[in-house]
Amino acid sequence: MDKIVILTGAGLSAESGLGTFRDEGGLWAQHRIEDVATPEGFARDPALVHGFYNARRQQAAGAEPNDAHRALARLQRDHPGTVILVTQNVDGLHEKAGSEVIHMHGALDRALCAACGLRWDAAAEMTPRTRCPGCEAKAARPDVVWFGEMPYHMEQIVDHLADCALFAAIGTSGQVYPAAGFVQEASAAGAETVELNLNATDMSRAFDSHHIGPASRIVPAWVESLLP
Ligand code: APR
Repeated sequence: MDKIVILTGAGLSAESGLGTFRDEGGLWAQHRIEDVATPEGFARDPALVHGFYNARRQQAAGAEPNDAHRALARLQRDHPGTVILVTQNVDGLHEKAGSEVIHMHGALDRALCAACGLRWDAAAEMTPRTRCPGCEAKAARPDVVWFGEMPYHMEQIVDHLADCALFAAIGTSGQVYPAAGFVQEASAAGAETVELNLNATDMSRAFDSHHIGPASRIVPAWVESLLP
């Protein structure tokens, strides 16, 4: 099978009980991005930011993958090396379903030292007093990419987009770059592009085809359509 690149967003985990960001009542309706998802917000009030991510970390730890995560893991298992899964999500549900995944926005279960750059498995709760296990500075932060920071693994992702035959965006509103621009990069490289979402998005017109519905229903059906 030719290479497939799949980008997932918060809509994939919605049916696992994890909130999305921009839907009605979503995370960005409950919290100001500048307070909880920027380096400036963390510098201003690290306890508020740790509290926000501690709550999300604990909720994600108790969540289970849904049929969409499981279908993508099956597709990847049946086609080793040709299904590249890139997620904007910071929950671990793709891994729990058995997928290998590139976390371009980091992960809730990882911590980063703002002083020395060391990364380690995050404790369930972090506070401004949490010390780095390397340099012992009280500078632990969630290893999550905030607004104004560079997403992770971009070189690897761009290389995959340049030689994929099919690009799929699943459960993402296409509001945040660079992820929102991946469809154009894949199209420019000659890939077929497909959007799977509960609704149409601002990026829908950039895709060749669309599947509309809840991910736990439309993703398994789409995966079935790809398998021989
Ligand atoms: N099935 C499929 N799609 C769904 C479902 C569902 N059950 N529920 C919601 N969606 C879709 C919505 O229609 C929307 O297009 O998921 C998308 C969620 O969009 P956002 O909340 O904007 O989430 P996402 O696109 O992942 O956000 C991208 O923005 O704030 C940053 O870092 C954050 O990674 C995040 C990035």
